[in-house]
Order: sequence, then structure tokens, then C-alpha cells
Amino acid sequence: MLVGGRRRLGKALAEDLARDHDLVLTSSRPWGNATEWPGGATRAQVRTLHWDATDPELVSRMMADLEALDRAGVTLSGAVLVAGTFPEAPFGTWSRESLDATWQINLTFPLLCAQALAPRLAEGACLQFLLDTSVHTPWLQRLPYSVAKGGLATAVPGLARLLAPKVRVVGHALGAILPAEGSDAGFLAEQTLLKRLGTPADLCRAVRFAADSPFLTGEILTLDGGRRWR
Ligand SMILES: NC(=O)c1ccc[n+]([C@@H]2O[C@H](COP(=O)([O-])OP(=O)(O)OC[C@H]3O[C@@H](n4cnc5c(N)ncnc54)[C@H](OP(=O)(O)O)[C@@H]3O)[C@@H](O)[C@H]2O)c1
Repeated sequence: MLVGGRRRLGKALAEDLARDHDLVLTSSRPWGNATEWPGGATRAQVRTLHWDATDPELVSRMMADLEALDRAGVTLSGAVLVAGTFPEAPFGTWSRESLDATWQINLTFPLLCAQALAPRLAEGACLQFLLDTSVHTPWLQRLPYSVAKGGLATAVPGLARLLAPKVRVVGHALGAILPAEGSDAGFLAEQTLLKRLGTPADLCRAVRFAADSPFLTGEILTLDGGRRWR
């Protein structure tokens, strides 16, 4: 299951995983167009759900969707919580509304998804969170976003303890892979020890590694080309 599996890194993960998994993908927008589905997968391989972090009925919608999957005999072998936003928010511009909006999608939504999904995950499944290398050194122009990811970083070992031994929990602290529009890719690459951006394939490998590592839980894997050691 990929929460936020329609665009960008979520889509790249979906295309990779579709090689050997049936998928459940969520998006904040209604689905409908089969051409958006990953890797030539057929309708039988991909189920789509409409989960919007801002929907006041989100929790009941999630429960109803997960019960329907259960009734259809779908077992979730793992879940990756991808959805997020990356808003610039310089100090001095913060408002209650802007902070709430940033934390709603980047913190509240993944926590509610984790709570809804955990009881539906198969024995030994891994629940994975996409974090940010900002959990090591916060982005100063995006501090509210960094705070949300820091909150999720705290949730990883906490949920690992709550959900063990049935379900494992892993976070990925990502450096720049698909940089935000308008950012300087050359500069971002220069900030890493390896002098390059990450690629979606780097993330796919890490997600598969976590899913396939039955003795791994409660950890955050940093995938940032060594940026945090500069
Ligand atoms: N890209 C990078 O280099 C990078 C670096 C560090 C960390 N990360 C983390 O990796 C994850 C994926 O990043 P990304 O760059 O691929 O995508 P992104 O632009 O951060 O968005 C991820 C997904 O969030 C979903 N989303 C947006 N608003 C939503 C809402 N209201 N309710 C539910 N879902 C919503 C979007 O899907 P829909 O529009 O289909 O709903 C989108 O595909 C994020 O958590 C991000 O913080 C990415």
C-alpha cells in the first residue's frame, strides 16, 4: 500500500513495486484515468483510494475503505506513507493556519494512516515513513515542515514498540531526490559527500531492503548521499 502513490516519488515506487506486487494506491484527488496507473499494471493489480488529508471525514473514509479491502480478501503485506508537502515558511511569516496546514498533511495525516493501517497489516509487515534529512539538521526556511518530519522521526521508534512483534516500523530520512521546482539541483548535489542527487531507484532499493529485513525495526535509514556529515 502506498499512501500518496500517484505522483513523483510515490509513482516511482508504485512503478517499481508493480513488478512483483499488487498495489493499493491513494491520492488526494479522485482517480479515474487508467493511463495514470504504474508500469502497465492492469486494473486487477492496482486498487485506488481517494484519501485527502484535509477531508473532515478522513478517518471514517479510511476505515470504510480498509474494511472493503478486507472483505475483498486483500491482505496488506506492507505500507509506505509517502504523502507530504514541502512549503517554504520563513520565520516571521508563520500563522496558526499555515502551521496547521503544514502539520495536517505532514504529521497528522501519516499518524492517522499508521493508526488505521497497522491492524490491517500482515504478520511481519513493515510500515515505512518517508522522512527528510532535515530530521538531522532542520531546514531554516522550512522549519515547520522540518518539525513535522521530526515528529514522525519520534513516531518511528514509538510505533515500533507499540506494534511489535507483529508489525515493523522504519523511516527513511531522504536527501534531495526529486528537488522542488525552482531549486538549484547542482547546488543540492554539491552539498552531498557523493556529489549527486539521489534517484527514485535509490529510494526503491531502500524500501525493498526495509520490507525484506525481518530483524529491522524502529530505525531511521538516512539516504542523503552523506549530506548530513558535511
Ligand atoms: N522529493 C524529494 O527529493 C524528497 C526529499 C526529502 C523528503 N521527501 C519526502 O518524500 C515524500 C514524497 O516526496 P515527493 O517529492 O515525491 O512528493 P511531494 O510533492 O512531497 O508529495 C507527495 C504526495 O503527497 C500527496 N498529497 C499532497 N497533498 C495531499 C493531501 N492533502 N492529502 C493526501 N495526500 C496529499 C500528493 O499526491 P496526490 O496529489 O495524488 O494526492 C503527492 O504525490 C514526502 O513525504 C517528502 O517529504 C522527498
